[in-house]
Amino acid sequence: KILILDFGSQYTQLIARRIRETNVYCELHPYDVDEAFIKAFAPKGVILSGGPASVTEMETPRAPQIVFELGVPVLGICYGMQTMAAQLGGMVENAAVREFGYAEIQTTQHGALFRDVKDRASVDGNNILDVWMSHGDAVIALPQGFEVMAYNAATPIAAMADDKRRFYGIQFHPEVTHTLQGKATIDRFVHDICGLGRDWNMPDYVEEAISRIRTTIGSDQVILGLSGGVDSSVAAALIHRAIGDQLTCVFVDNGLLRANEARQVMDTFAGNLAVKVIHVDASRDFYRSLTGISDPENKRKIIGREFIEVFQRESAKINDVKWLAQGTIYPDVIESAGGKNKKAHTIKSHHNVGGLPETLHLKLLEPLRELFKDEVRELGLVLGLPREMVFRHPFPGPGLGVRILGEVKYEYAELLRHADQIFIEELQRSGWYEKTSQAFAVFLPVKSVGVMGDGRTYEYVIALRAVQTQDFMTANWAELPYSLLSKVSSRIINEIRGINRVVYDISGKPPATIEWE
Ligand code: XMP
Repeated sequence: KILILDFGSQYTQLIARRIRETNVYCELHPYDVDEAFIKAFAPKGVILSGGPASVTEMETPRAPQIVFELGVPVLGICYGMQTMAAQLGGMVENAAVREFGYAEIQTTQHGALFRDVKDRASVDGNNILDVWMSHGDAVIALPQGFEVMAYNAATPIAAMADDKRRFYGIQFHPEVTHTLQGKATIDRFVHDICGLGRDWNMPDYVEEAISRIRTTIGSDQVILGLSGGVDSSVAAALIHRAIGDQLTCVFVDNGLLRANEARQVMDTFAGNLAVKVIHVDASRDFYRSLTGISDPENKRKIIGREFIEVFQRESAKINDVKWLAQGTIYPDVIESAGGKNKKAHTIKSHHNVGGLPETLHLKLLEPLRELFKDEVRELGLVLGLPREMVFRHPFPGPGLGVRILGEVKYEYAELLRHADQIFIEELQRSGWYEKTSQAFAVFLPVKSVGVMGDGRTYEYVIALRAVQTQDFMTANWAELPYSLLSKVSSRIINEIRGINRVVYDISGKPPATIEWE
């Protein structure tokens, strides 16, 4: 396995995903993780990620010295290369020419990393790579034992190699898809240089995970809050495969779900997979507690609290439960660089099933803890979940509760469900569903004037939101074709009595957020 030390680059998770895609297991940890941990982890190779700091300043992050003493290959990427150079006796300075975006570099004879890796040849026969750069600093003097592995006019040391110790530094980012040979570079490092086999694959993982769950759980009973989202669905399917009826799922219908969602979840789980599912229709309780409440954070808290109450009530009815299963995935547990002393600023209090474990006094079972989202999806398919469920856009825990602006009313939810269904249906028909990361309708409780037939109307507004994003931290609004928007708009206005105006949200995140509340 490979250890990635995170120096805070926005691309670090991509490095991990690229490595997993080559069928090798890797983990990501903050750069300042304990040396004892690194020793115990016993990596076959170490990758130092990029990061926002500058090696030229005092007190910036350094790789633990032990990394260079383990006798295993080390690959430094961007900041990782710079700190490697500085720590091993080279020199780094603010670059005369900064490079952001595409760059062309020529590779030299040195370094096993780029052997046979090229995009094309230059006129004088050297290999050329088209890479993606993002740096203001550069290595200007090599540490002892290193040779230049690639260069260009702006950056004379664009990559460096010490083949003897198997230390490599590259200034560009191989983990982003803009670097065409990035995958080949990572593949070369992981397989040829670190000597790892391709033994991380989903079918094997399923078998391993199942036997691990069986050993952990023995004959105990497990409960799981099934939401219909990808993570809890895949967790349920996996655990059910392992322990069958020792698993009971609780599916809480809060009245804020999408059209037909409850039926689909029940059909798939209770029906096709024969999983034990308790379907609780708690809509009334949720609507009652939301009456008169219009502040978004308040609504979130109430919906979260109500969920916990219902879940607790239901789980109390099951005898002898020892475990609470959750669909926690790897990005939820990765501690980012500097995570020990930095707390992410809370912009929205996203609730999943937070707060449950302590109050229920149950042990936690989180079988997806080591998987990335794309791996969870692959696992879902291997387990036989329907494609539509596995590739569904994310849906927030508070559901339509944060897509009905202000006070939540059943009447509004019905209008919104219908509009959302039309929007999603048209996105799917036109092939745009897969091209967007998240798309939905929002209900605006304001009325505007319209004209229909000979009459004047005075009805509500629906806003459409569709975004494209990698990580949901930043997002662009999707440039949906006018013809598609026009179709969705006329269907919503014609088919839903109560809506006479549709608008499209053209705000990016930041400064807006993806949801409207
Ligand atoms: P924002 O609106 O913050 O959303 O740009 C980013 C992503 O998070 C989802 N989201 C939530 N998920 N509980 C959740 O489980 C919440 O309260 C919540 N609020 C936003 C949102 O759908 C998007 O994918």
